[in-house]
Amino acid sequence: MTTPRLAVLGSINVDHIMNISQFPKPGETIIGHHYKIAFGGKGANQAVACGRSGADTLFIACVGDDSIGSDIIAQLKTDNIQTYAISIIPETPTGVAMILVNEQGENVISISAGANAALTPAHFTQYHHAIEHADALLMQLESPLDTVFAAAKLAKSHQTKVILNPAPALPLSDEFLSFIDVITPNETEAEILTGISVHDESGAAKAAEVLHSKGIKQVLITLGSRGVWFSEQGKGTIIPGFSVEAVDTIAAGDTFNGAFVAAILEGKSSIEAIRFAHAAAAIAVTRHGAQSSVPWRDEIESFLAERA
Ligand code: ATP
Ligand code: RIB
Repeated sequence: MTTPRLAVLGSINVDHIMNISQFPKPGETIIGHHYKIAFGGKGANQAVACGRSGADTLFIACVGDDSIGSDIIAQLKTDNIQTYAISIIPETPTGVAMILVNEQGENVISISAGANAALTPAHFTQYHHAIEHADALLMQLESPLDTVFAAAKLAKSHQTKVILNPAPALPLSDEFLSFIDVITPNETEAEILTGISVHDESGAAKAAEVLHSKGIKQVLITLGSRGVWFSEQGKGTIIPGFSVEAVDTIAAGDTFNGAFVAAILEGKSSIEAIRFAHAAAAIAVTRHGAQSSVPWRDEIESFLAERA
């Protein structure tokens, strides 16, 4: 067992996905279609995107002691991920996400943490070694916040680069943000972190400035089909995404994050890595589901070659 260059710490969910014409109003019942159960969770989706993009990836996470938890671990092994740090938590269900997708491809999600709640700071102690020796640590906010905080602090003190995808949206303390090297909020998350509306380039620039003032070197505000606002050393610009026919944006952000970090670790420049990640996420939105939509490296390279 080697120490991987990239550690991902995060959630694993079973996604229950249903397509509907439009989101129901309170008290309304709507007939859905194409119900399916699929593997998801922001942590797992991002680990899969890292693994399929070619990164040497360790995933720190928890599943329940149910059959779907074992199935998920078996699947992750085939996605180029080291799974020895995924714990099976007794008498606990694997995390669940209920996802509705409307005709515009937009989604609403509610989650039940299940085994993800067992990834406490005390549980995580056994994996400190991996974080201390990795080159990068990628995290989200579907795991207990005190664990994400402890992992970021540990990584920072060992020069392990910390990339935080602050999703789902939560306000974070200045101390927490001071441990982050690269942050990747979407527009809503950027507004919750900074109090600034990100509706245009000027809003994105102001929000990025606030995040830089907390000590974060690189800010990537993802803007859906418009691409990403990339800001470094106080200078920002839009890096446009690719135009595709989107059918379902579940895990677009996760695919972007995983592919971006994998590309950075292999030495691509930030702009090249964003372009690689845009290609991966553009492919993902043309496919249904979370991990089922995440492309492999050869698919991303072919996509980029076709658009060169
Ligand atoms: P989600 O929660 O849907 O996974 P997100 O809100 O975290 O996504 P977005 O800003 O919507 O993140 O999208 C992340 C990246 O995915 C974008 O920067 C872009 O590369 C890609 N993307 C998203 N939507 C589209 C689209 N309709 N067409 C092409 N690329 C897209
Ligand atoms: O980002 C998409 C993910 O969010 C889904 O797979 C679902 O599990 C929720 O965690």
